Amino acid sequence: MIYIAPSILAADYAALGSDVRKVANADLIHVDIMDGHFVPNLSFGPDVTKAVNNVTEQFLDMHLMIEQPEKWFETYVGAGGDRLVFHVEATSDHVGAARQAHDLGVQAGFAVKPGTSIEPYLDDLELFEEVMIMSVEPGFGGQKFMPEVLDKVRVLRDRIAEAGLGTIIAIDGGIAETTIAHAAAAGVESFVAGSAVFGKDDPAAAVENLRLLAEQAR
Ligand code: DX5
Ligand code: ZN
Repeated sequence: MIYIAPSILAADYAALGSDVRKVANADLIHVDIMDGHFVPNLSFGPDVTKAVNNVTEQFLDMHLMIEQPEKWFETYVGAGGDRLVFHVEATSDHVGAARQAHDLGVQAGFAVKPGTSIEPYLDDLELFEEVMIMSVEPGFGGQKFMPEVLDKVRVLRDRIAEAGLGTIIAIDGGIAETTIAHAAAAGVESFVAGSAVFGKDDPAAAVENLRLLAEQAR
């Protein structure tokens, strides 16, 4: 299954509700939370998450680019988050963090920066509904896709298949018409796209076009 996840980081914040409604055809909404410490930028927090949750029934994938993510789990579940995707670089206990998310009744995911190796986490994949491979340095939208991270996608894809797991491989950063096919061919199932969706005049059409390109490449 292909999932297209528009990132509201690239939406018009003065018209956020209307922008979210424009991508009602998307499979989920990607919510980028930045704390100005883990990444050199700030985005928004629980109140904006709640406001988004109030205008859509869509699944909210919470991309937590924050230090000490576990401290915020309950808050983001209360705000409507459906999956907590924390960075392994931000915690010393990814297994405990996954359990905490599950105890709160939501899904767990982990994200890795481009320079972070995936090997230390391969034995724990069964605890995660999603693994998010960053294809740019986290912090900003509109950056250039880093194709070298697809090696990690292939390793993950093989391990997930061998172990018979349902873990979804997601990719985040620089996904657009020109890059999505490469990622899909490597084994990505869930595609985050910010500027390639909200930077277009017709975001819903952009979602459909990306979905088609991904489906054709798989
Ligand atoms: C970057 C964020 C991304 C961002 C992607 O740190 O995690 O989700 O919105 O933006 P694009 O799709 O424009 O690269
Ligand atoms: Zn993100």
